[in-house]
Order: sequence, then C-alpha cells, then structure tokens
Amino acid sequence: MRTFAILNMKGGVGKTTTAINLAYLLAAEYRLRVLLIDADPQANATHALLPDGERSGLAGLLGGYATVYDDVIVASGIPNLDVLPASEELWSIDLNEHTGDSGLLNGTANALRDLRDNAMEDDAYDVIVIDCPPNFSAACVSAINAANSIIIPVLPDAFSAAGMDSLVYQIDGVRKIHPDVRVAGCLVNQWHRADVVLDATAHFRAESPVPVFDTVIRRTDKVLEATWVREPVQTWSPFSSAARDYRAWVKELVEKEGLDDGR
Ligand SMILES: Nc1ncnc2c1ncn2[C@@H]1O[C@H](COP(=O)(O)OP(=O)(O)OP(=O)(O)O)[C@@H](O)[C@H]1O
Ligand SMILES: [Mg+2]
Repeated sequence: MRTFAILNMKGGVGKTTTAINLAYLLAAEYRLRVLLIDADPQANATHALLPDGERSGLAGLLGGYATVYDDVIVASGIPNLDVLPASEELWSIDLNEHTGDSGLLNGTANALRDLRDNAMEDDAYDVIVIDCPPNFSAACVSAINAANSIIIPVLPDAFSAAGMDSLVYQIDGVRKIHPDVRVAGCLVNQWHRADVVLDATAHFRAESPVPVFDTVIRRTDKVLEATWVREPVQTWSPFSSAARDYRAWVKELVEKEGLDDGR
C-alpha cells in the first residue's frame, strides 16, 4: 500500500484538484482501492466528493474520540473510492494546541500513520491520497508522518529564485517532520502557452532540487466549472485539456511508482 500526500504551503496551487483527480483515476481507471483523506479544514475535497452532512471525520480521529478508522470513512459512491472527510472542526484541533487545551492531542501526530498501518493490516486499500492544507497544522503534520511520498503541485508563476528557495525551505521542513519521506515530484499546474510560462517551466526543470514530472496540467475553465458541480473534471469534462493531462500524469506516476504491480 502506498500513501501520497499532496503538499505545498503556498495556497491555490492545485493540491485539492490534483488529489481529487489522482484518487478518482486510480479508483475508476486503474481499479485500485483508494482512500482520499481530506486534511484541510476548508474541506474542498470533501465538498467535491460527498454530499453535505454533519461528520466529525478526520477531526474525530485526531481528537482521539474516534478510534476505529472505518467509523469515520464515507463511501464516495464512486466504486473503489472512499473518503475520510474534513470539517471546520479541524481548526479547533490547532486552536486547542495554542490555548493549552491539548488534552485531546495525544497521538495526533501519529494518528494518520496508525490509520495507514491498520488499513494495511486489514488489506483495506491499495493507495491513500492525502489532500493537505497550505500550512503545517496538526492535520498536515499527521499527513506528512503517514506519507511514503509527497507530490508538490506548483504554478508556473512561482519559479523565480524566491519560489525555488521557498520550495527548498518547505522540503527541509517536511524532512524535519519525517526524514524518510520521498518527493515523488513537482507537478506544474495551470500551464498555458505564453513565453513567460515556457521560460519559467524550462528554468524550473533545470534548477529544481527535486524531480519534476514530464506531464504538465493545462489551465482550463473546465476545472473551475467542475468545482461548481462538485465533480472531478474527469467526469464533468473528460476531454478537456486538464482532464486529459491528469490522465497522462497519472499514467506517468503509475509507471514511475510501479503502482499497477499488484493489479
Ligand atoms: N488546471 C487548472 N486550470 C484552471 N483552474 C484550475 C486548475 N487547477 C486548479 N484550478 C483552480 O484554482 C483554484 C485553486 O485550486 P485548488 O483548490 O486545487 O488549490 P489548492 O492548492 O488546493 O488550494 P488551497 O491551498 O486553498 O487548499 C481553484 O479554484 C481551482 O478550481
Ligand atoms: Mg486545497
């Protein structure tokens, strides 16, 4: 079983879009059993894949009042794809830490690693995908601890020297939390044909301290539309550029990571 955390401390780079499309494609096209964990109190991935509802989800697990992972997991309705939802309650987990009311926090940092190990023992999933928030919150630290590999979506506007420094700084931060975690690669998102994007992408490929995926994800309004209808762009507009790019990228990832070995 493999666990990927989709991570970047910069907001709005495409973490959630990537997590949803990766989880959807591994489940629907590759027939792998996938658990998508939403570790962001904004709950965008939860909102995209599940109907509204009152659920403690990940906060229940991190808060220690849900101890069995199947109690907090929800079937998405898409075959092979389950979701461990987020809620705004995740904010109170971090708040408690700052106000000293941390009685619930014991084991928070290892909660998702425990879930991963238990799911592995049960042979419940082939892949776990974790959508991280843009900060080192308790949920994000727990996600990093559970991850084998991280995937870093990046925008082609952030490849300046400062952007590269920030990437290095972030990866150092992640390794302080989990020294053995691998970076599977950076994924260039919102690519479009413009001189500045072509130049920035070439510069990034040459200078990046970590691997950069060959596939890039193009910018298209179909991704925005898909958020309105609460569907992956794969089902909303399967032949749109971004949907096709995500299929090509997941193929690249599956091959590079040997994910279909056990199929
Ligand atoms: N390839 C794309 N083309 C056009 N719009 C995109 C694309 N990818 C993402 N977006 C849009 O960009 C916005 C940010 O994407 P997303 O929510 O996936 O980023 P994020 O990194 O998860 O953000 P946050 O840090 O707030 O969690 C969303 O409105 C999304 O629909
Ligand atoms: Mg997000």
